[in-house]
Amino acid sequence: MNETQIILAVLFPATALLSVAIGVRVIKSTAPGEQRKGADIEALAERENRYAVLVTMLLIGLLAITLFFIPYGEGAEDDAQQVTVEAFQYGWKVTPSNIQAGRQIEFRLRSQDVQHGFGVYQGDKLIKQVQVPANTPGSDDPLGPEQRMVLTLDEPGTYRIACLEFCGSGHHLMVGEFEVVG
Ligand code: CUA
Repeated sequence: MNETQIILAVLFPATALLSVAIGVRVIKSTAPGEQRKGADIEALAERENRYAVLVTMLLIGLLAITLFFIPYGEGAEDDAQQVTVEAFQYGWKVTPSNIQAGRQIEFRLRSQDVQHGFGVYQGDKLIKQVQVPANTPGSDDPLGPEQRMVLTLDEPGTYRIACLEFCGSGHHLMVGEFEVVG
C-alpha cells in the first residue's frame, strides 16, 4: 500500500467512524432521558472537559500526521530537471520533450488562455495531476501564473498527458505525450 491508499483505506474511515461515535455520544448526552436522572452536574462537566481535551488532542494528532501527506508545495531537489509546459486550447508544449528516468522532474506549467488540468498517465494509469491556472484576460503577459509539479518517473517509456479540466469544445482533443529515457 502506498501513502494515498493507507489514507483512503485506514485513516479516512477511522476518522469518519470516530466522528460518528462522537456525534452519537453528543446526541445521547443531550437526550432528555439522561438529564432526568438528576445527574451530578459537576461530574458531567468534568467528564465533558476530559472528552474535549481528548478530542482536541486526537484532532491535533491527526492533523500533524496527515499534513505530511499533502502533495502540494513540494520543493524540487537542486539537481532536478526542469521541464516547461505550456498549456493552450487545445494542446501542450513540453520543453524539453526528452526527460531522464529516475531523476526528479520539476514541471513548470503555465497557460496561454483558460484553466487546464495537467494529468500525466503511464498507460491508462493516472500518476499525478495538477491544475494550470488561467491567464488573466487583458494581461500583457502571454502566459498565466506558474504552477509547479514535482515528480520522479523511474520507468523509461512514453508518458501521456491529458487535460483534466473542461476548457472548451476541444477539451477532449487536448492530449500530448513525452518521452522518458533510461
Ligand atoms: Cu484543457 Cu481541457
